[in-house]
Amino acid sequence: MNILILGGGGREHALAWAVMQNPKCDKLIVAPGNAGIAQIAECATLDVEDGGAVAEFAGENAIDLVIVGPEAPLAAGVADRLREAGVLVFGPSKAAARLEASKSFTKEICDAAKAPTAGYGHFTDAESAKAHVRAQGAPIVVKADGLAAGKGVIIAETVAQAEDAIDDMFGGAFGGAGAEVVIEEFMTGEEASYFVLVDGEDVLPIGTAQDHKRVGEGDTGPNTGGMGAYSPAPVLSDEVAQKALDEIVRPTMAEMARRGTPYQGVLYVGLMIENGLPRLVEYNVRFGDPECQVLMMRLGGQVLDLLHACAEGRLAEAKVTWADDHAMTVVMAAEGYPGAYEKGTVIGGLEALPEDSFTQMFHAGTAEKDGKIVATGGRVLNATARGATLAEAQARAYALVDAVDWPQGFCRRDIGWRAL
Ligand code: AMP
Ligand code: GLY
Repeated sequence: MNILILGGGGREHALAWAVMQNPKCDKLIVAPGNAGIAQIAECATLDVEDGGAVAEFAGENAIDLVIVGPEAPLAAGVADRLREAGVLVFGPSKAAARLEASKSFTKEICDAAKAPTAGYGHFTDAESAKAHVRAQGAPIVVKADGLAAGKGVIIAETVAQAEDAIDDMFGGAFGGAGAEVVIEEFMTGEEASYFVLVDGEDVLPIGTAQDHKRVGEGDTGPNTGGMGAYSPAPVLSDEVAQKALDEIVRPTMAEMARRGTPYQGVLYVGLMIENGLPRLVEYNVRFGDPECQVLMMRLGGQVLDLLHACAEGRLAEAKVTWADDHAMTVVMAAEGYPGAYEKGTVIGGLEALPEDSFTQMFHAGTAEKDGKIVATGGRVLNATARGATLAEAQARAYALVDAVDWPQGFCRRDIGWRAL
């Protein structure tokens, strides 16, 4: 098979690494890719949010399967264009991608499916949003309805903070994403993510993970895209996972099919778990980043068969083979992230890293310049490892971190503390 992966972060490096291990993969192109991906696959320049351009590229390169990494191309309808052009694609339609692109849409689907989630109100003007906040009291959660690159959620400790957040959102701080606002009940409990493949009808769980969203040790400081992750997530026991499938995932996927917009692709199910009861925090219509890195580390080459079966609507006959192992990834970021940071700093020591089936350094934001690897983003490298225990995976991941020579980079030293 000739395969095209869209995206260029650590998630796509991990996907490419896993797909390449499957003997069915003849050729792999990643657009745009990064310096790490370029070491294992061909990288191409392509506007990944332009469905017409992607379909044309797939035709010219005899691509048999397109795997879409990030949400933006999905929300832009790239999967729809590919299907119209007769190209097999892993990833939901624009209509189904609303499960991530609109928070009020997801709440409406949860209502229709009677899926447990936080109570909420949906507002199109600041005054009624504020009246709702005053009636509910704090803590309370204020969310921009649309895609805001993970920044559109404010956990307000006081009513005044919530009112400020509402003014910011309607004032355009998140662009069009904040034109509508969802106000949610603040849920307590432990968060974990559940990853399932869905082909419209069938649902196949492929793993659980937990990430660390805050930049500082002990889960303090500003939110980031994720500073590290591990799999499996102990809080998502078989029993809790089964409840999440029966009460949240299957009913909402059935509701999507009933509306004529069946979901196809990976569904990232963000859960809040308290006293063994899961409630939905959010859906994402793609793999998590960096959660994907730990899932790929555990699943390996079978991922291609699973994604292919999902794209072809054959999930009912697909099977996941689990090793009884643990994986961890530690994000190395540029000093200053998630605020302003320097680009172009040189990263040393990457050539000498061990290459074995237990460790892998995935690249998230790198490029090659004059024969050197330089940082190009906030999150730059993902030191990823697996082991028989989480502690073993952690020791291997940090050994990888310590072998890198990058004075302008930093990482959290406590990834996995909750589970360990
Ligand atoms: P979201 O983008 O909706 O996933 O929100 C980002 C983060 O905000 C989540 O991962 C949670 O940590 C937190 N969060 C979102 N909604 C709630 C809620 N209703 N109650 C408590 N925490 C929340
Ligand atoms: N790591 C969180 C996300 O990918 O949304």
